[in-house]
Amino acid sequence: MTLPVVLISEEEIQTRVGELAEQLSTDYGETDDLVLVGVLKGSFIFLADLSRRLTIPRTIEFIAVSSYGSNSTSTGAVRLVMDVRGNIEGKHVLIVEDIVDTGHTLKYLIGMLESHRPASVKTCALVRKAERAEVEVQTDYLGFDIGDEWVVGYGLDYAEKNRTLPYIGIVTPDD
Ligand code: IMP
Ligand code: MG
Repeated sequence: MTLPVVLISEEEIQTRVGELAEQLSTDYGETDDLVLVGVLKGSFIFLADLSRRLTIPRTIEFIAVSSYGSNSTSTGAVRLVMDVRGNIEGKHVLIVEDIVDTGHTLKYLIGMLESHRPASVKTCALVRKAERAEVEVQTDYLGFDIGDEWVVGYGLDYAEKNRTLPYIGIVTPDD
């Protein structure tokens, strides 16, 4: 089996994650009620690295949604699989997402989390495929913009494979 072709190297990712953590630490520096809400499963590595590099207080929650099956065809329909456990009312929520593709997932999540009456909801995504956008949704903090390619690694998968690669690479889906 051949390895995915490197698109964003481990070093580039680590540098960018450090920059994002620094920016977030500055922007949220005045608050002590920042909650990072990681979107399972894809964000687990990004969230782990990002949260450890923040220099400000924060708590961690997870949420799980499903929109894709085991292939790469979006239906646009997003389903909540697991809600946050903790009380996020009055807190500053930062959604930590692996990738923004059509934007349906992030848009749904913003609305969903706003219904918990937090003080604010912002978004942080490692990767965005700008040209694939179908709905308007704001990515407040972004790692990298990429083209219309299926990527894996650093938490991202294709049919559950290659999530733990240290870099982000391109695969060609076969369906
Ligand atoms: P959206 O709702 O179309 O923006 O899709 C977002 C979700 O689709 C992401 O959270 C990923 O789980 C998945 N996804 C979209 N593109 C990719 C990709 O290139 N690699 C891996 N997962 C992807
Ligand atoms: Mg995701």
